[in-house]
Amino acid sequence: MSAKTRVAILISGRGSNMAALIEAAKAPDYPAEIALMFSNVETAGGLDIARAAGIATTFLSHKAFASREDFDAAIDAALRDAKIDLVCEAGFMRIHSEGFVRKWEGRMLNIHPSLLPSFKGVKVHEQAIAAGVRISGCTVHFMVPELDSGPIIAQAAVPVLPGDTPEALAARVLEEEHKLYPEALKLVAEGKVVLRDGRAVFV
Ligand code: GRF
Repeated sequence: MSAKTRVAILISGRGSNMAALIEAAKAPDYPAEIALMFSNVETAGGLDIARAAGIATTFLSHKAFASREDFDAAIDAALRDAKIDLVCEAGFMRIHSEGFVRKWEGRMLNIHPSLLPSFKGVKVHEQAIAAGVRISGCTVHFMVPELDSGPIIAQAAVPVLPGDTPEALAARVLEEEHKLYPEALKLVAEGKVVLRDGRAVFV
């Protein structure tokens, strides 16, 4: 049996996408194992979920570092120590230095709760409702230095309903996120999707 892809998940909060990835990785035939959970927030709910699941956790506050580069160097060291192959960001609320992203390019994924390239950044569901779109959704993409701009691996759509609040839309999108992220990670871990010439290519 070939070794599974070793995955680190980076979070800052609730960790529901992380929990979905942990759950999916329990399947014997899933090609990835969650080898590390990293949080930059000590009170992140996801830390308790990961500990309860028996996942190795690392907490490091960005506030303890003089620069973005120094913080990223510490993350990189933690990833190397754990022999990580792939990184999944799931609600990690820090922007990385360009050098760090370049180093992990093609091996670092993120999930964003909109149909990119629409509605980047924060207050995503507010943006979607304000724009009056009838469909929103979520995107898993390879990370590049520019925020929420990397090559798209997978997307799922949901309707935006009349009278939707940002919270109602967020909940509908989140349900899809929990299905999409495990599917996208599977594709990358199996080598079925790779980053090539700035595109996510199915091979
Ligand atoms: C998700 O909506 C994700 O798309 C965004 O941040 C949120 C994290 O939620 N990047 P959770 O911590 O996974 O529950």
